Amino acid sequence: MSEEARDRIRFLRRVRQVRDYRPEPISDEALADILEVGRWSGSASNRQTSEVVVVRDPRTLQLLTASGSNTAAKAAVALVIVTQGDPAREELEVFDEGRMAERLLLAASAHGLGASITTLKGEGPANVKAALGIPAERRVKTVVAVGVPDTAAIQAKPKNPQPRKPMSEFAHSDRY
Ligand SMILES: Cc1cc2nc3c(=O)[nH]c(=O)nc-3n(C[C@H](O)[C@H](O)[C@H](O)COP(=O)(O)O)c2cc1C
Repeated sequence: MSEEARDRIRFLRRVRQVRDYRPEPISDEALADILEVGRWSGSASNRQTSEVVVVRDPRTLQLLTASGSNTAAKAAVALVIVTQGDPAREELEVFDEGRMAERLLLAASAHGLGASITTLKGEGPANVKAALGIPAERRVKTVVAVGVPDTAAIQAKPKNPQPRKPMSEFAHSDRY
């Protein structure tokens, strides 16, 4: 395996949710890169129904956390994913939204930033749409919070002894 392939696989293998952030901003360059990666995220039939609202205002970040996005309040930036909200294409929109969220997280991680994928709960989507001026018919559910990782806080948290199931329970050879 080439060194480049090994590095890329190691990066992908190690990407995790980061929920603790230091109280400092992220660079404009990093944010621009994250958004550029998001813009190039693939979508079903290349319909590109996802958009992102970049939230930096501390009071709006608080509102996101009050609406279920538990990590937003401490983040430097929250990326609120907005999709079209077409009931006939809900399954595809949700799939696209997941791809978008993961790519935003990967791009943040590539910059050495921490990111977490969160979802709005209960009345959260309606409240966030109203606060951000998003038309009511749009789908708003997923928020990606991004910030400078608080390494000390992350290391202080207890580690899950088995963060993933074993390979033998994950990959099946020829038959399930
Ligand atoms: C659809 C989806 C919704 C999630 N919602 C939340 C959430 O609301 N809050 C949160 O802290 N993490 C949320 N997560 C993160 C998962 O809990 C996390 O990926 C899982 O625990 C594995 O953690 P790791 O990636 O750090 O190993 C969500 C992840 C996904 C894919």
